Amino acid sequence: MSFLGIDLGTSSVKIVVMDDAGKVTASISKDYDVSYPKIGWAEQNPEDWWNATQSGIKELISKNNIEGSSIKGIGLSGQMHGLVLLDKDCNVLRPAILWCDQRTQEECDYLNNEIGQVRISEYTGNMALTGFTAPKLLWVRKHEKDLFDKIAHVLLPKDYINYKLTGEFATDVSDASGMLMLNVKERKWSKEMLEILGISEDVLPKVHESWEVIGKLQKEVAEYTGLTEETVVVGGAGDQAAGAVGTGVVKSGILSAAMGTSGVVFASSDKYEVDANNRLHSFCHSNGKWHQMGVMLSAAACLKWWVEEINVDTDGDAFEKLLEEASKSPVGSNGVIFLPYLMGERTPYSDPNAKGVFFGLNVTTTRADMTRAVLEGVCYGLRDSLEILKSLNVPVEAVRVSGGGSKSPLWRQILADIFGVKVQVINSKEGPAYGAAILAAVGCGLYKTVDEACENLIQVTSSVDPISENTEKYDHYYKIYNSLYPILKDSFKELSKLQ
Ligand code: XUL
Repeated sequence: MSFLGIDLGTSSVKIVVMDDAGKVTASISKDYDVSYPKIGWAEQNPEDWWNATQSGIKELISKNNIEGSSIKGIGLSGQMHGLVLLDKDCNVLRPAILWCDQRTQEECDYLNNEIGQVRISEYTGNMALTGFTAPKLLWVRKHEKDLFDKIAHVLLPKDYINYKLTGEFATDVSDASGMLMLNVKERKWSKEMLEILGISEDVLPKVHESWEVIGKLQKEVAEYTGLTEETVVVGGAGDQAAGAVGTGVVKSGILSAAMGTSGVVFASSDKYEVDANNRLHSFCHSNGKWHQMGVMLSAAACLKWWVEEINVDTDGDAFEKLLEEASKSPVGSNGVIFLPYLMGERTPYSDPNAKGVFFGLNVTTTRADMTRAVLEGVCYGLRDSLEILKSLNVPVEAVRVSGGGSKSPLWRQILADIFGVKVQVINSKEGPAYGAAILAAVGCGLYKTVDEACENLIQVTSSVDPISENTEKYDHYYKIYNSLYPILKDSFKELSKLQ
């Protein structure tokens, strides 16, 4: 028997087949576009996700000659916080507003200042942040009232796919946590929050644990994809919780650092815990427990921007060439510091106006220094979240890396040096998609619990120790990095007003 793990990412959907020994036997990825209708806005068409997912499954099954009936279960992971709205006939009402969209500062101010951060945190375990789903719903209520009145279903991105697969309106606790509508402590919808938002519980999907079966494949989906109607679909998880399962981060002590489009430092916790100032997100984990995490909005996205938008004329494999160059620049990039706030920033500043900055340029600065500064800047941003976790006495023995950025040995070493912590690489490279397949395997009874599955399937294959001399140097640069945002904060705001 085998399982499908599907990760509905921001730039593509990735689908993997995992056999009952945990081996990934086939995979496929299908791209789609993000539209940026205004600065700070980000939208996607849910139908594009569905077309890519459906055709991806079909192609994966047929190209690899997979017997449809061998796929016993499907688990989904997905970009979190996105707002998908359907009318009473289940048609999509507007493009989905994504996790990195920053249009809701006014709505967040209303929730945090007028309703009050303490109250919101008491109801949900979190404060309102521009990326979260609830402020987006308030934005639609204010700016698109006619459309708001037609809402019959509010879904998260992966749950739209869950619906298309099974016909069920279902979500899981980890993804639902990022809506700012879930009582994270009790793992159920917060009645108080729904009242504040002016919606009834009927428009929300049913909440499940991540491994629980939500339904079976609809007939037409089974026929189109080559799977069978007996294939079950489990609740799945938000991409960060699924990624943590896929890297075996299900106990305290081992953290995960995901260097994908966004950057995340994630700690699993046996208890529900909330930082008094809500500096970290406090969400349900997908193994029945909880987790805390800090999220930077642009991580590997910074390198992608630097290589694909700025160094467009580089010959050959531009990524490889620029990374090779960067390895020749010393620790501290000859005094160049990069602030990675290309989409504003969430943790620790919660500031949609924050911008990217190269600081410390001089006539001897080279492209290699600037590339290295981008890599270092992302790791300083991740360290901001690590420092908050450490200040909350979260134990930190090692950090497991995942995401596109973690493929670079140079970036992994920089991360180990800037964190001053051992960085581990594990046997699976598939991150959230693998985690989602594990959840499906648990749902089908192959393992009793998610933790048991991780113990059996995840192994550390290599690790990078921090070089203490580098860590000492980076501590000085990190101090300067940290001093820059407070100085620039007001100027970022002024600049945003001009645009
Ligand atoms: C997590 C977050 C991102 C998105 C996109 O809070 O906003 O990680 O899920 O991957």
